[in-house]
Amino acid sequence: MNSNWVRALVLVMCIFPVLVECRVRNYKFNVVLRNTTRLCSTKPIVTVNGKFPGPTLYAREDDTVLVKVVNHVSYNVSIHWHGVRQLRTGWADGPAYITQCPIQTGQSYVYNFTLTGQRGTLLWHAHILWLRSTIHGALVILPKRGVPYPFPKPDNEVVVILAEWWKSDTEAVINEALQSGLAPNVSDAHTINGHPGQVANCSSEGGFTLPVQSGNTYLLRIINAALNEELFFKIAGHKLTVVEVDATYVKPVKLDTILIAPGQTTNVLVTANQNSGKYLVAASPFLDTPNVSVDNATATATLHYSGTLANSPTTLTIPPPTNATAVANKFITSLRSLNSNKYPAKVPLKVDHKLLFTVGLGINPCATCKAGNGSRAVASVNNVTFVMPTTALLQAHFFNISGVFTTDFPGQPPHAFNYTGTPPSVLQTKNGTKAYKLSYNSSVELVLQDTGIIAPENHPVHLHGFNFFAVGRGLGNYNPKTDPKSFNLVDPVERNTIGVPSGGWVAIRFLADNPGVWFMHCHLEVHTTWGLKMAFVVDNGKGPNESILPPPSDLPKC
Ligand code: C2O
Repeated sequence: MNSNWVRALVLVMCIFPVLVECRVRNYKFNVVLRNTTRLCSTKPIVTVNGKFPGPTLYAREDDTVLVKVVNHVSYNVSIHWHGVRQLRTGWADGPAYITQCPIQTGQSYVYNFTLTGQRGTLLWHAHILWLRSTIHGALVILPKRGVPYPFPKPDNEVVVILAEWWKSDTEAVINEALQSGLAPNVSDAHTINGHPGQVANCSSEGGFTLPVQSGNTYLLRIINAALNEELFFKIAGHKLTVVEVDATYVKPVKLDTILIAPGQTTNVLVTANQNSGKYLVAASPFLDTPNVSVDNATATATLHYSGTLANSPTTLTIPPPTNATAVANKFITSLRSLNSNKYPAKVPLKVDHKLLFTVGLGINPCATCKAGNGSRAVASVNNVTFVMPTTALLQAHFFNISGVFTTDFPGQPPHAFNYTGTPPSVLQTKNGTKAYKLSYNSSVELVLQDTGIIAPENHPVHLHGFNFFAVGRGLGNYNPKTDPKSFNLVDPVERNTIGVPSGGWVAIRFLADNPGVWFMHCHLEVHTTWGLKMAFVVDNGKGPNESILPPPSDLPKC
């Protein structure tokens, strides 16, 4: 065989990465419209390769992944590999106008990144407009060949993707909201691997079925790809042993119910140790804010023991009520980093930057917003409502293009007030495209403080380019004198997306060891749209391998 043939063969075989040893995984994503009849809707949806959810991407720790994305739809598109560190490769991170211009209709772009030191479940999703409602999928990073999981090897692994479904076109939903100034319509259903389960008035809708063998143990790689809702997940009659969140191992903990915010992932072990039969799987929303609407449709699926008769009844389970804060807290406070010799928790112990960011809503004037009475709902970080640039921030940073953004993002709230008490009389925010600058390898402690403006709300905040440690969490206003005394600096959970509790705060720590421009935002898409987003700029270091790599030649142009 000549060498071209060998190369071609390896390339083809590497599309099935679990079978052969390949350090480079090649994928092709065709962004196309697909007709659907799901959930009584006839609207075509935007998909990758015609699939909803999209294809699962498999790789191993330290592999290089190449994904050629070809845009065949009328929208601009970009794809984000949520939770991938992207060490020095911010060009492949994906948030439109932050690290790249979007891929225009008819154009393509090859995302090229290496999964350095990462293993576990992550997700990929569109990072422009509201397209991630249907453009999303799993990214499964297996340990290096020959390296076992730090928990008993499961008999089988299953990807479980939770999402939200609108009967109408989601771009129309958000556009209508932006015109009115009011909140967008909530979704019509939640889905588990693309299926809502039984839904009123859609008689043909069944649910996803997970076949199990009695006695076997399954690793469920659960992903919340929903736009705007945190979801509880439980299985009738079965305990869930959590072993990993956001692609970092945790100390195993056994629970009835887990909670996953949009952008988060949770790996659980489930043993089929009940009498054979059918058991209901339920995904239902969590929202402990009064007066904010939520889509309270529960998505259902079935755990189906082999040998069970088709017509045998299903063992049911009752999902927690929407406002089940106690159930949420039980899960959140039970998570600890594994912190073993092999997988140590490298919590920064000294802090160079102590930051306090308020996250919440606001109200700004809007002359054209008739429904909103001349005003619109907005959101902000430290009272800055982020305005999207028209040149990507990373390009502006790398090529020194001035006038795109400023680096005066405030490290503290511009006005101190009782954040979780009676809101101030002025609810207006300032618009700006501002970033916070960090020097290479500086350590950061960031307290994210919810505000009660309009309503206190749980905000799942996602930081691109880093994992962080969630060292503290509390209700009310953060107290810099007393609260740090109870920080966990030994085995705090390591994540890339963290829920700021409703009317409370979380403290995170990370090391700025990744040069580039890194987006941080609420992963509730409605809040991102409203401006709850900002960026960190991390300078290059002085040593070798401490600088941003040059952009690839096919980087899309604006
Ligand atoms: Cu998963 Cu910036 O998003």
